[in-house]
Amino acid sequence: MRQIVNTANGGYDILKLQEVPDLVPKPKELVVDVKASGINFADILARKGQYPDGPDKPCVMGYEVSGIVSEVGDSINDQWIGKNVIATTRFKGQAEQVAVQPHQVFEKPQQLSFEEAAAIPVNYLTAYILIVVMGSLQPNESILIHNVGGGVGVAALDIAQHIGATTYGTASQRKHDFLDKRGLDYAIDYRNNDWYDVLMELTDDKGVELITDPLGGKEWKRSYKALRSTGRLGMFGISSASEGTQGGVKGMWNMFKTLLQMPFYHPLPLLNKNKGVFGVNLGHLWHESQKAELWIDTLLEGVEDGWVNPRVDKVFEFENVGNAHRYIEQRKNIGKVILVP
Ligand SMILES: NC(=O)c1ccc[n+]([C@@H]2O[C@H](COP(=O)([O-])OP(=O)(O)OC[C@H]3O[C@@H](n4cnc5c(N)ncnc54)[C@H](OP(=O)(O)O)[C@@H]3O)[C@@H](O)[C@H]2O)c1
Repeated sequence: MRQIVNTANGGYDILKLQEVPDLVPKPKELVVDVKASGINFADILARKGQYPDGPDKPCVMGYEVSGIVSEVGDSINDQWIGKNVIATTRFKGQAEQVAVQPHQVFEKPQQLSFEEAAAIPVNYLTAYILIVVMGSLQPNESILIHNVGGGVGVAALDIAQHIGATTYGTASQRKHDFLDKRGLDYAIDYRNNDWYDVLMELTDDKGVELITDPLGGKEWKRSYKALRSTGRLGMFGISSASEGTQGGVKGMWNMFKTLLQMPFYHPLPLLNKNKGVFGVNLGHLWHESQKAELWIDTLLEGVEDGWVNPRVDKVFEFENVGNAHRYIEQRKNIGKVILVP
């Protein structure tokens, strides 16, 4: 089988397609023949050497796949063989085969293509934890979804709309038409305007009850300021640190600058202002697989009920993985980018 190997830190040329022996399942494993693999912003950071949670190089990235179970280990029911599934993977998902344990595998809803199915785990789980589990968004509340045109952003919009909250979102102007059609109440062109000023004007200076913020650095300070009383800030990424770099010394410097600009939250102002802050890192939740199973089951019910609608923007073949990275870095995607063998 073939897999996409990150051979070192660097540009697109470090991504190599390599042939390795086919996988043989251990007793408690299922082997899935991959039809589609998710690619995430973390993969871009990992390639550049800016992802602290990434494995040592050389490594195969990939947190999520869809495909068909081809083999099972001795202690797994062989009725799984031939089933169309979605699986979460702790790396190694960008390959023609993955080996996973039963708690990582979910039956694929029939109405989704393999590409759409692979778009669910990372984007929707992250958004669900931010908005429902920790953000506790209510129907009478409002939410600002930063980077609402990205993979997590579109998933967050689905979930916030299902709850019935008023939705605000920041995105590049060219994504606004799509977002309007998708039902976003207020799109803010944050690359040509100061999103804080626009949001305050739109909300009569009140702000919003929940903000999901993957930008990091000084933006977390501004997002905190934009919270209405009883508001919560969910921090889950530092995309601003990777802006315009291919890693290396400039990348390290950007990361350092972003870290310095991060806010510290003292309990007393939190208490007196009735505000909350929290962080989400999906990659640090592997020990909570029972919770993850419940959340994914809820999201797959959401597919059946029609409020989970994964949006695949573009599909790249494994051979063209470098172009997929470039496409994401150039902010071209609206929704998810998928790799197929
Ligand atoms: N903590 C977690 O568990 C977790 C899980 C998933 C994702 N994340 C983080 O969430 C963020 C979004 O992930 P995603 O998968 O939704 O990414 P995505 O699909 O690539 O979308 C990200 C969007 O963010 C905007 N953006 C802001 N800074 C950017 C930059 N430096 N380079 C490229 N685009 C930038 C772009 O939208 P505009 O064109 O509108 O600017 C882009 O379309 C990333 O920071 C990622 O690391 C965290």
